[in-house]
Amino acid sequence: MADLFSKFDPIIEQREALLAAGLTDPFNLVMEKVESPTVALCNGKRTILLGTYNYMGMTFDPDVVAAGKTALDEFGSGTTGSRVLNGTYAGHRAVEQALKDFYAMDHAMVFSTGYQANLGVISTIAGKDDYIILDIDSHASIYDGCALGNAQIVPFRHNDVEALDKRLKRLPPEAGKLVILEGVYSMLGDIAPLNEMVAVSKAAGAMVLVDEAHSMGFIGEHGRGVAEAEGVMDAVDFIIGTFSKSVGTVGGFCVSNHPRFEILHQPQSAIIAVIMPDLATGAAMWEALLDEGLYVNLARPPATPANMTLLRCSLCALHSEDQVGEILGMFAAAGRATGCID
Ligand SMILES: Cc1ncc(COP(=O)(O)O)c(C=O)c1O
Repeated sequence: MADLFSKFDPIIEQREALLAAGLTDPFNLVMEKVESPTVALCNGKRTILLGTYNYMGMTFDPDVVAAGKTALDEFGSGTTGSRVLNGTYAGHRAVEQALKDFYAMDHAMVFSTGYQANLGVISTIAGKDDYIILDIDSHASIYDGCALGNAQIVPFRHNDVEALDKRLKRLPPEAGKLVILEGVYSMLGDIAPLNEMVAVSKAAGAMVLVDEAHSMGFIGEHGRGVAEAEGVMDAVDFIIGTFSKSVGTVGGFCVSNHPRFEILHQPQSAIIAVIMPDLATGAAMWEALLDEGLYVNLARPPATPANMTLLRCSLCALHSEDQVGEILGMFAAAGRATGCID
């Protein structure tokens, strides 16, 4: 049997050599007590922290701590459900509204972590036939998002506008293209020349996503990040961010002005099955919906599983938000007319 762990042997040997030389393991430090954003007790010693992402020192901010306690009191310790089914709470909507206000953007979506924001957004918007052109020094979550969506990956030399431009020009003009950049790169702390990079991306017909994980809150006039500082907020299609760094908590998000962004909030597929108790009620509901001005499919056995009667609804990317509101109203009216709901 091939041991799948054998590939880690060089890392294990390297670590053992470090420890044998009498060094403290730098990748296993435990902070026994965190006294403030800048001081913790490590190995029993009071230690100044110069290696956190607590850029704005928010972790002990009285408002942040109080909001966390209130959320625990009002909502309990977790949603125990996914956002698209049973895991959206009023707090999610409130934070999405706060993000829209903060970035002055039309749409926002929060995730459990910044890692998941990159994974979810990138893998959803760029698929098998699309190209992702990304800085070679991109964060692991960006690479993982690219791999999950199966897009064609085209890396270019770090912060090199000319290299980006060359790669873009080699791609088929009609292909879907997403350029992924970071405002500040986390290891060296260098800043992307977003002004020029966004310009060459747009000239090539590409959409642009900027990960502002290390710039939120303190770069740009309103703290919106490097895209704001470089004056390209209007040209950037998606901004990804995290709450795990400058705002001192946990979670990730995406904000965008894309008119179809809300489709990302809807269920896993475009099909929504509304299950009816029996054929007679299903048919009555179908007719009442038609009277309201809404056409859906009435599906019945043997086309349906488990002998179900259901109203099969399929959303399309062109349904407007207003139409979705209207549809919900029609369901409520038809439900009351047929006695399906009180
Ligand atoms: C550029 C970048 N994007 C995304 C993330 C992921 O953020 P989170 O810690 O919230 O998962 C990080 C975290 O280190 C990051 O540096």
